[in-house]
Amino acid sequence: MRAHRPMINLALIGFMGTGKSAVGRLVAKQLRFDFLDTDACIEAQTGLRIAELFARAGEAAFREHERRLVDDLGRMTRTVIATGGGLAANEQNLASLKQHALVVCLWASPETIWDRVADQSHRPLLRDPDPLAKIRLLLAQREPFYRQADVLVNTDRRSIKEVAHQITHQYRLARNAAPPP
Ligand code: S3P
Repeated sequence: MRAHRPMINLALIGFMGTGKSAVGRLVAKQLRFDFLDTDACIEAQTGLRIAELFARAGEAAFREHERRLVDDLGRMTRTVIATGGGLAANEQNLASLKQHALVVCLWASPETIWDRVADQSHRPLLRDPDPLAKIRLLLAQREPFYRQADVLVNTDRRSIKEVAHQITHQYRLARNAAPPP
């Protein structure tokens, strides 16, 4: 753990299918924090599902929505923030999250990710003739960003409950070690 700064919030980053939303909801309950999902925020702001937004406006427009939302997240307090899988694969977004949150990355192998998302169809980036190859490629591209998290948690063969307990514990340790805001 390398965080020596105020940590008012907790941000979950990591690839699609690593459990950010499910784990995040449980961690928020355990810490008595609010919960915010960046994809859900963008859907509420635009009135479009993420897949529709990609189809109508393109990925670059979606990334711009993410970038603007990241600026607003600094105003949150006592909030667990579950980010879309690509949001933290960007130096500015990552640096911005680190100003107010403990950044925790949920990790899983490409095979585990594929197992978890294979029966879901709402992720435009995985609508590919070879989704497992696409997962491997994107994960390799994003790994250098994900590795900059304060805490890296492997979720392979672990339940949502186990992962959530570990993160809640890590957050309490980190917050107690950090200087007051
Ligand atoms: C994306 C991940 C998705 C969503 C969008 C793009 C990505 O979020 O933001 O489809 O680039 O990895 P989840 O990680 O919650 O699936």
